[in-house]
Amino acid sequence: MFRRLTDIVKDNTERYLDKACAPEEYADRLSHYGNQLVRNLHGHHGWEDHQFFPELSAADARFDTGLDTLESDHLALDQVLDTFTTQANRVIQLVQMDEAQAYEETGALCDTAAQIDAFLKRHLSDEEDLVVPILLHHKLRG
Ligand SMILES: [Fe+2]
Repeated sequence: MFRRLTDIVKDNTERYLDKACAPEEYADRLSHYGNQLVRNLHGHHGWEDHQFFPELSAADARFDTGLDTLESDHLALDQVLDTFTTQANRVIQLVQMDEAQAYEETGALCDTAAQIDAFLKRHLSDEEDLVVPILLHHKLRG
């Protein structure tokens, strides 16, 4: 779901930069999908940090070696998501006030969306590598 939302945000942003999408439509879509992406990622990481990871840690000490990496990833991703939120809110406002400026600033937003995409690819695959063997070994989560 996170990857799909990131793809939607990236595609919409590229279409706007290619002038294949009207500014108002882009602003609406950015507001909707960008908000979903940020809220869902924050919610999911909160659940992992406070519930899921401690549960895995209690089940298997092997998990602790990778846990620091996953937790520091979450902190780094939080910063990228904050940057994304600031840039997206600004672009959405500028579409109404100064569309040329909105267009100009969308380039940086596009870079941030690409950073989120690259980050998620790596992070989700690291998580799978660490989590799945423990789930299977301990037959957790059915
Ligand atoms: Fe995570």
